[in-house]
Amino acid sequence: MSDSSGFTEKEYASKFDFGIWKRIFVLNRNLFPYIALLGVFMVLLATGDGVFPLMTKYAVDVLVPALGTPESGGMIRRFGILFACLSLIQGTNVFIFIGIAGLLEVRICHALRARAFAQLQALSFSYYDKTPAGWIMSRMTSDAQRLGDTIAWGLVDLIWGSAMMLMVVVFMLVMNWRLALMCLSFTPFLLAATFWFQKRILSAQRKARRANSLLSGMFNEGLQGARTSKTLVLEGYNCGEFSRESGTLRGHALRAAKLSALFMPVVVLFAASGAAIALGKGGSLVINGALTFGTLVAFVDYSLMFFDPAREVARVLSEFQAAQASAERLLGLIETRPEIVDRADATDADEIRGDLELSNVSFQYGDGMWIFKDFSLKIPAGQTLAIVGETGSGKSTMVNLLCRFYEPVSGEILVDGVDYRERTMHWLHSRLGYVLQTPLLFTGSIRENIRYGRLDATDAEVEEAAREANALGFIGKLESGFDTVVGEGGVLLSTGQKQLVSLARALVANPRIMVLDEATSSVDTETEVLIQGAVERLLAGRTSIVIAHRLSTIRNADRIIVLENGIVLEDGDHDTLMVARGHYWRLYTRQYIDESVLEEAAAGA
Ligand SMILES: Nc1ncnc2c1ncn2[C@@H]1O[C@H](COP(=O)(O)OP(=O)(O)OP(=O)(O)O)[C@@H](O)[C@H]1O
Ligand SMILES: [Mg+2]
Repeated sequence: MSDSSGFTEKEYASKFDFGIWKRIFVLNRNLFPYIALLGVFMVLLATGDGVFPLMTKYAVDVLVPALGTPESGGMIRRFGILFACLSLIQGTNVFIFIGIAGLLEVRICHALRARAFAQLQALSFSYYDKTPAGWIMSRMTSDAQRLGDTIAWGLVDLIWGSAMMLMVVVFMLVMNWRLALMCLSFTPFLLAATFWFQKRILSAQRKARRANSLLSGMFNEGLQGARTSKTLVLEGYNCGEFSRESGTLRGHALRAAKLSALFMPVVVLFAASGAAIALGKGGSLVINGALTFGTLVAFVDYSLMFFDPAREVARVLSEFQAAQASAERLLGLIETRPEIVDRADATDADEIRGDLELSNVSFQYGDGMWIFKDFSLKIPAGQTLAIVGETGSGKSTMVNLLCRFYEPVSGEILVDGVDYRERTMHWLHSRLGYVLQTPLLFTGSIRENIRYGRLDATDAEVEEAAREANALGFIGKLESGFDTVVGEGGVLLSTGQKQLVSLARALVANPRIMVLDEATSSVDTETEVLIQGAVERLLAGRTSIVIAHRLSTIRNADRIIVLENGIVLEDGDHDTLMVARGHYWRLYTRQYIDESVLEEAAAGA
């Protein structure tokens, strides 16, 4: 599987690999007691199942001949009570094992998801560059679910099936080993046929599932991109792709159905052959008096009983094999080492002044082209630096490096004169605020969203931050004020309101270093003025790096650099750069002149 981002899904081994399952089991080792308990109940259940034909044998050989004799009444009563007790025990067993297996399924699924989720928080930005979000989503949802399901219920069938087969073989051998061997002579064929079919059925199902997930991906894209496709006149192309994929899906699904349909008669044929031998050979033994009639009945029962567990075991083994890809993928996520981790000797004691320096920094994304080569820049504590430049010039990249979302390939980034790799990430990130171009709010109330800036902020501090961010005005007008729920990703607020809330969130954190990727999205003039005020307050008194789009921010900055292809073309404040009549002046006159007219109008209004 490959998409335009260059992500390729690796091919997974089709051989059964114990190592993978061992790693999955080790991840769930706290569940071993439950698994052991499940094992005990499954063996008990299989033993109980194996006893029923013996009961039949007893009834045929002992009870029936005794009918009419004085003791028969008591014998039948005792038999009835025994039968009822056995049934009750079996019923209880079923109840308990379903409970344990259900619990295991949920626990395994939860444990794997929790591990994967924790891992997602630890992974570096570079992982997300390489890995499509949809891929991660399927690992977290369907793969985790599949593993919980396969392991819990697979263990049930595996233990029960194996115990049952063993039980049947032992009982048959004990009753009459010659006849037993004859009846069981079909077993190797049955097992071979079962494995042959199960493997093919599961492979067809797997292909169908893969086609299905491709298809839902296309569905999803189709839904989200419906407007774009229409404007690009891609509808015809999309439909062709879609029907090709859904044809593939149908082909695989049909093959799986055909194989399943063929498989059942084959199993029944082998099972019936075993029973036929029991009847034929056993029958003549009964006539010769070498075998009791009851034993013959029990033999036929056992022969027919043998094939169900055999089929289950084969199915489970193939299912484990098929689920192996899920296990491998999930382990791939859980065991990926984050590219950026704290060094063993990293410290986080010192307070921070806020001096920043990029020293001979070179950087490329993955093995792409160089975005920066031997780039050096000093940002003294307390300075507000505005970065301007064409799209793709490296503004966001520089900020990502400063925030240590990526690390330089060579050279170093110094915070207060010390390479930031000598500090922990927590040290830097807890002293650094980052306001994104498109503000992202989380599901929850406005109060909670502001408090995400600093989790131990009091209500008063949250409200003070909202006031500083000029957000009180709109929050006050909301019916539930600070407790208004913002919806998933903040959809219930307007763009401007979201920006104000995200500025308040940065203010409540009160970091020494502030990084701001300014939004260009247009908001009404009134909100714009509010945002400008909030931004000014946010940047004052700290080391601030702003990817600036607002004229007011740029003009108020202590220093402006013009970036192009990872090189600083100009460096100075607004007035100096305007006088120089270079790149900044051109950019300014081209891009910001309209805005400046607007701004004056707003100021005049
Ligand atoms: N995650 C990434 N993986 C690979 N290449 C990237 C990635 N992010 C950015 N680039 C590339 O790095 C270069 C600089 O991108 P960057 O995002 O720093 O530009 P920018 O100045 O912030 O642009 P804009 O004004 O559009 O935000 C571009 O050529 C871009 O294609
Ligand atoms: Mg950018």
